[in-house]
Amino acid sequence: MIDRLRTDAATVVAGLGDVANLDGLAELEREAFGKTGFLSRAKKEIGSLPPEDRKDAGRAINEIRAEVEAAFDARRSVLKDAALLVRFEAERLDLTEVLNGDAAVGHAHIVTQAWEELEDVFVGMGFRIAEGPEIETDWYNFDALNIPPGHPARDGFDTLYVNHGEPGHTVLRTHTSPVQIRTMLAQEPPIYIVAPGRVFRRDTADATHMPVFHQLEGLVVDRNISLADLAGTIEAFTEAYFGPGFSSRLRPNHFPFTEPSAEFDIQRPDGSWLELGGCGVVHPNVLRAGGIDPEEYSGFAFGFGIDRLALMKFGVDDLRELFTNDVRFLSQF
Ligand code: DAH
Repeated sequence: MIDRLRTDAATVVAGLGDVANLDGLAELEREAFGKTGFLSRAKKEIGSLPPEDRKDAGRAINEIRAEVEAAFDARRSVLKDAALLVRFEAERLDLTEVLNGDAAVGHAHIVTQAWEELEDVFVGMGFRIAEGPEIETDWYNFDALNIPPGHPARDGFDTLYVNHGEPGHTVLRTHTSPVQIRTMLAQEPPIYIVAPGRVFRRDTADATHMPVFHQLEGLVVDRNISLADLAGTIEAFTEAYFGPGFSSRLRPNHFPFTEPSAEFDIQRPDGSWLELGGCGVVHPNVLRAGGIDPEEYSGFAFGFGIDRLALMKFGVDDLRELFTNDVRFLSQF
């Protein structure tokens, strides 16, 4: 019986060489070790052996089983390596194929281009670039901007909360306005800053909305700053960024952090209007939160989205294109 077992095992092991892939190996494995396989058969035969031979037969079966298993494992590892090579070959990317022409050089993403151009324009107007963290406390994102807990404006923001510290107190900033507060707390007036940055809202992605987008915040705090300075700054920016023939207008609106508040629109040379962002005279409560005496100083602030400007500038009509990062799309700009 043991001799036959050895012959059967040798046949199975020899058959391994013919197995071409892992599926074939699994099938052969089922046959060899399954209920009808030679090992099962041998086990059943033990019962018919004289009792004194059974122990040796059992031991032989176990040994042979281990040998056959080892042979399967060895073959499996060879086939796995081969399968991996096939996959690597199939997924191979020829990174040299873009090495001819301009595509190889690469360039800034169109949002980055718009962002940097905006910075250039504002720096040219005498502003400094400021920054703040993308993860904020609700105090910076809301309270300090005159949006206390329970204020309806909080609901309007579709805030994404971060699971950190006291529940509801850590947020992904919903706008770049908290940088106003950080700047006021960090420096004395005169303040002339713009703060471009990434912001987050609980929004479903579609052609005009993304849960992650970019804004640019502006803040001026100095003596005798008025609404007229705001209007003049927006107008100067409009011409500098969009070019001659573009102009701006302010329309009354409401924001908790400014009083009075306005929406500002850009008029294109063809006469059509583009809604750009919000602005206003900084609310005294906001100045106080920033450690600035509203009796001594006043200021204005504005904020608008960068992504839509990039879309407009490059004639793209779907915000989602900005995030798919398809080189064929990006290399057009
Ligand atoms: N933070 C506002 C928003 O995300 C935009 C904004 C409006 C910013 C008015 C301002 C402002 O600084 O004065 O919708």
